[in-house]
Amino acid sequence: MRNATDSFATRAIHHGYDPMQNEGALTPPLHLTSTFAFETAEQGGEMFAGERGGHIYSRISNPTTDLLERRIAVLEGAEAGLALASGMGAITSTLWTLLAPGDEVILDKTLYGCTFSFMQHGLAKFGITVTHIDLTDPTNLKAAITSRTKVVYFETPANPNMRLVDIAATAEIAHAAGAVVVVDNTYATPYLTRPIEHGADIVLHSATKYLGGHGDVVAGLLAGSAELVGQIRMYGMKDMTGAVMAPFNAMLILRGLKTLELRMDRVCSSAQTIAEMLEAVPTVAKVHYPGLPSYDQHSLAQRQMSQAGGMIAFELEGGLDAGRQMMNRLQLITRAVSLGDAETLIQHPASMTHSTYTPEERAEHGIAEGLVRLSVGLEGVEDLLADLRQSLSPTPVKAVA
Ligand SMILES: Cc1ncc(COP(=O)(O)O)c(C=O)c1O
Repeated sequence: MRNATDSFATRAIHHGYDPMQNEGALTPPLHLTSTFAFETAEQGGEMFAGERGGHIYSRISNPTTDLLERRIAVLEGAEAGLALASGMGAITSTLWTLLAPGDEVILDKTLYGCTFSFMQHGLAKFGITVTHIDLTDPTNLKAAITSRTKVVYFETPANPNMRLVDIAATAEIAHAAGAVVVVDNTYATPYLTRPIEHGADIVLHSATKYLGGHGDVVAGLLAGSAELVGQIRMYGMKDMTGAVMAPFNAMLILRGLKTLELRMDRVCSSAQTIAEMLEAVPTVAKVHYPGLPSYDQHSLAQRQMSQAGGMIAFELEGGLDAGRQMMNRLQLITRAVSLGDAETLIQHPASMTHSTYTPEERAEHGIAEGLVRLSVGLEGVEDLLADLRQSLSPTPVKAVA
């Protein structure tokens, strides 16, 4: 059995699994079972009472998801992990556990569309105060936080506009007021940023994205202290949402994690090349990519991320119409939501992933109507550059006499 001092890639491939304890099977077995047999009635009772370990029922735990949970914990530098049915399952199970009526959650202004919707239309309906502030400046948190604030929640980089939040500075202020810090690390992955090492309490993921990496599964993961993760498992996931990851999906994510480092190195390198190319195109008004020296938060990116990631957002001079025309001219890059797949994907947040915000809310939350979001995939970067170039400067159509 390998230990936690191994390198990131070695842990992602080996941690928590010994083939020799599993009939020599190189790949961990898939435990397709909903329930588990008890040796005796007394033993079953002791397991329910928490006096004895072991698996009871797959809505609580399962050996295949258990291996994935140990692996995400070690990759994030956390005590414990939890596998859930989707990223939204991870988010909702966490917040239903940490909040009660009368409490406040403070959020950054920019969030993935369905997260925004859950907070704004879900939590708020149950007597929780939902406050959005600009967390790119941690002093804003100092001014806003009160003893009612139980959770501070943000994405870094944020979907879709790539804004960054300084995790360490934010966590220091939140902890001084007794709040729990929850970070959505979907964009960075633990290979680029480990929020717990910067002071976060819970880190969560849409594992649908880079952790799975192949666009064939919807899944969520989270990691944190054994105590908090235990509460989210036994209350948020088991009783409140039932958002349990299927063992088969856990197997797909375990497979995806084996190549996470390789895939992230590739997308970071290609995204940097593409962002630099886009920045030089006269009809591109703005490129949001943390790896560009011109990026507002470039120095924070250098401190907090080992590389700048595979996501780019950009705006064209002609706004929304120009963006749509450009997207429609693409021949290799696929028009689709989601991100982190082998295929490069492009989408328009205002009409797609962030259409859960009203136009007024998008304006207030810094999501430009013309913004285009690109998830750089694993294709040859020359092919991606060529497709983007032809879509940005189409060959002029000859006038018909
Ligand atoms: C940053 C972020 N968090 C959470 C989610 C939700 O994840 P899922 O689609 O797996 O429920 C998404 C989905 O796009 C996302 O981009």
